[in-house]
Amino acid sequence: MSTENSWGSRSLKGVWHPCTQMKFHEDFLPIVIKEAHGVRLIDEFGNSYIDAVSSWWVNLFGHQNERIKCAIIDQLNKLEHVMLAGFSHPPVIELSERLNKKTNNLLGHAFYASDGASATEIALKMSAHYWRNKGLAQKNQFIALTNSYHGETIGALGITDIPIFKQAYADLIRSASLMPVPYSNDDSEIDSCLNYVKVYLQEHHQNLSSIIVEPLVQAAAGMLFYPQRYLEELSLLAKQYQIHLIVDEIAMGFGRTGTFFAYQHTNAKPDFICLSKGITGGFLPLSAVLTTDDVYHAFYTNNITQGFLHSHSYTGNPLACRAAIEVLNIFDDEQILEKNNARSSVFKDMLLPLTGHPFVTSWRHIGMIWVFDINTKSPTFAKDCYRVGLSHGILIRPIGNHLYFMPPYTITDIEFEELVTATVKVLNEVEL
Ligand SMILES: Cc1ncc(COP(=O)(O)O)c(C=O)c1O
Repeated sequence: MSTENSWGSRSLKGVWHPCTQMKFHEDFLPIVIKEAHGVRLIDEFGNSYIDAVSSWWVNLFGHQNERIKCAIIDQLNKLEHVMLAGFSHPPVIELSERLNKKTNNLLGHAFYASDGASATEIALKMSAHYWRNKGLAQKNQFIALTNSYHGETIGALGITDIPIFKQAYADLIRSASLMPVPYSNDDSEIDSCLNYVKVYLQEHHQNLSSIIVEPLVQAAAGMLFYPQRYLEELSLLAKQYQIHLIVDEIAMGFGRTGTFFAYQHTNAKPDFICLSKGITGGFLPLSAVLTTDDVYHAFYTNNITQGFLHSHSYTGNPLACRAAIEVLNIFDDEQILEKNNARSSVFKDMLLPLTGHPFVTSWRHIGMIWVFDINTKSPTFAKDCYRVGLSHGILIRPIGNHLYFMPPYTITDIEFEELVTATVKVLNEVEL
């Protein structure tokens, strides 16, 4: 299968695409999207594709969502941007207060950036700097989980465990130690993983700053789920051994798993929460790190170098903050969590053609995520699915042999059914 676009080779020359071996595009040009509405992307020839991955997990309420669009336009007529050092503006003040409320007023200090990797790096820097300000500068090492993904800048790759993204840069990276993850509810497996962490902390806590986790779902590794108890007890161990718990909610926050933040399925007590992606409903780049009074006050002194001097030019951009406030308004006004909960049980019945498909070895579901493990040996399965999917009007991007749906929350029953039917056709067509 090949694709055409009206830009031909011009569409490849100037733009260097992310997460892409550009040569693979020689026989398959990028689809040029002209507009998008709701869950559908429309290309320049009028073909439409159901966006089953929410455009890399950012879109919550559909493309061109009217409320978010109007909020941004209103803000555009007032203030598009101002630097956030020495200045502030109403959207960033309100957003910080509203995010704090979503943490039950436990993480009331928000530091902003523009993308997820910057947020995880900010949390790492803040954590290590906290211990330095406390006179414990040797507490500067990080631990992460096996199969973790926290972004692809040099610092974020240090806490990421996905070889394909990391290998070429190994010499540049200061890698975190990795803790095992239990991928079942088997108590002995959970205990054995926790025991490993405990022994590691006993030996190394004096040099450890923090542990960073993706809460409950390791998305980029293939939507791998781990039990709530593991996260809850990691949190207790972190407290016991005086290291920070950084919860990376970049992919799972904003309702994706059924609670507002995924860690809220548990009693875990994060010291830092990293946010991005869905924060603006997929409209504008924005990220934030939320933290506690304890962390904030460790930086609050008369000494400039004890302050957190990190900055980005677009930190706290007013348009992005207004979009984020509107996202929170939509959650509150439209009871999104309750609605998603009800709808996901309706969707369950519609999945039968897929869950019963002979190539699906197992499947799992949480909130607005559905994952199907496919029995395939084909090294090109993911790429083939993506390409054949487009010919059936759907955008799916399996990770390895894990095919998943993570659609905008506004997907209708009919659209969901269409997605399932098209996915079955894709499975019947691709080489396994
Ligand atoms: C859990 C998690 N953390 C961090 C990131 C990095 O975010 P960004 O791509 O905006 O840098 C991602 C991106 O997929 C992610 O899933």
